[in-house]
Amino acid sequence: MKILMPGSFDPPTYGHLDVIHRSLELFDDVIIGVISNPNKAPMFSAENRKQMIEDNIKSKDLYKVEIFDGLLVDFARENEVQAIVKGVRAMTDFDYEFQMAQVNKTLDSLETLFVPAKPEYGYVSSSLVKEIHRLGGDVSSFVPSSVLDKLNNG
Ligand code: PNS
Repeated sequence: MKILMPGSFDPPTYGHLDVIHRSLELFDDVIIGVISNPNKAPMFSAENRKQMIEDNIKSKDLYKVEIFDGLLVDFARENEVQAIVKGVRAMTDFDYEFQMAQVNKTLDSLETLFVPAKPEYGYVSSSLVKEIHRLGGDVSSFVPSSVLDKLNNG
């Protein structure tokens, strides 16, 4: 089954990387879609976000990372994927994710599969990582060292 895992990945966290690794075990063909211009102005360029994923998911022959813009259903159709895969952390995520899943189903009959975050990553989010780091906190248990380097040095 060919699936698409879309996201902002600004920056990728251990939570994202865990869902990507688990998707690679479940599906034969995985595309990771990095949205170029998310709703919130990103801290990192799309190229940097793509690079941070590739730096931390080593089996490059098993997946590809693509930068996209526009509607998710259009990008999904262009890539002939059978479903979207999204990681969900808690019920707070679920409301929004469920809404997007229903919109994508209505727009183009695109199915969405949810992968629950591991409990240890249930509270990790890119926004919190950026805020904690900006305020001088230690985010090394939320992101790998290559992402930490980018947070420190741009
Ligand atoms: O990592 P995120 O911020 O949860 O990712 C959100 C993303 C990229 C999946 C979502 O914003 C998206 O699909 N954007 C593309 C535009 C679109 O299709 N919007 C309507 C979907 S309901």
